[in-house]
Amino acid sequence: MNEANPAENEGAKTTFVASLRLHLASDKMPRPAPEVLILELLLAAGPGHVSGTALARRLGVSRVAVWQQMEKLRAQGFTFTAVHARGYRLAAGPSSLHLALIAAHLRGHGRDCPVTLLDEVDSTNDEAARQLAAGRAAPFAVLARRQTHGRGRLGRAWHSADNGNLYASFAFRPRLAPARMQTFTLWMGVNVCGLVANFSGATPGLKWPNDLLFDGRKAGGMLTEARMDADQIRDLVFGLGLNVNSPAAAWPRDLAGRAISLAEHTRAPLDLNRFAAALLGRVLLAYDRFMDGTFAETFADLWNRFDVLRGQPVTVLQGGQRVSGIALGIDDEGALILRTAKSRTARFRAGEVTLEKNA
Ligand code: BTN
Repeated sequence: MNEANPAENEGAKTTFVASLRLHLASDKMPRPAPEVLILELLLAAGPGHVSGTALARRLGVSRVAVWQQMEKLRAQGFTFTAVHARGYRLAAGPSSLHLALIAAHLRGHGRDCPVTLLDEVDSTNDEAARQLAAGRAAPFAVLARRQTHGRGRLGRAWHSADNGNLYASFAFRPRLAPARMQTFTLWMGVNVCGLVANFSGATPGLKWPNDLLFDGRKAGGMLTEARMDADQIRDLVFGLGLNVNSPAAAWPRDLAGRAISLAEHTRAPLDLNRFAAALLGRVLLAYDRFMDGTFAETFADLWNRFDVLRGQPVTVLQGGQRVSGIALGIDDEGALILRTAKSRTARFRAGEVTLEKNA
């Protein structure tokens, strides 16, 4: 199945919005859809205007056809201002995910990667896994505005309301030894943190193995899942839930005080579509760097930059056992290292970590 409508997949409980192929700028790049080209030209003009004639010329259509495209975009939540003799300006876009807008932000920066946006799905990880199992060519990404059964680690639920947050899964077919999956997730984590820091100016912390934190509250989580083939990973799905724009009042009672969004932390809403485009580019680049081995040049430094546990007293709960000690960082395989009582060293490949309050 290539470029198939995921709503046709057996077992998928999805509401399909759109699927689009995003391309790296190149001579071979196909002409983008007209709405993507309009948005791209208006974004490139920034606060400036683009004349209807210029848009019509670039699209190779009449001015009436441009106007009709813009009416369609207006109906989808875009606001354009028109000034006589100067043209159009993009005044505002939809606050929820919009695939053409993501594509317009990505043009020239992205990678050849099909992206599917769903209005609703059980879990983007499950949808990506279903599509991989059905034979869809990888890599590809699945985004959803809300999930009905968003999943976290250790069988937990991931709150996935349609409130300006990001639910994204990236599907790959690497040929990797299963032991490298832990490092893969940690590497993706430092990349997401780096992107959030660049984008919002606020630096999140990473709590091993998969939590993004602001002020000790959870702003995001990652769930990497794989299907094995003999002794190699065949299908790999990297899922990311990121609390981007949800307001503090929107958390259910059990998450209030434990969850936080980037907007809540920075006190300013983020441009969700621009961020989603940047995330797509970053994750694909990070994947390439993991596969070609160049990630090792920066991984340790980046981990140390974001690691919130290093030097802290922590307790690890693993298989019903609790071990306390001082976190020393991670080893080459991504295991958490603890200095326990009597200066012994313990390594954990899995587990739930609690940061103890400093005495
Ligand atoms: C965790 O912190 O336990 C991991 C949370 C991962 C949530 C994301 S949201 C997108 C993707 N789809 C899912 O069902 N889970 C991941």
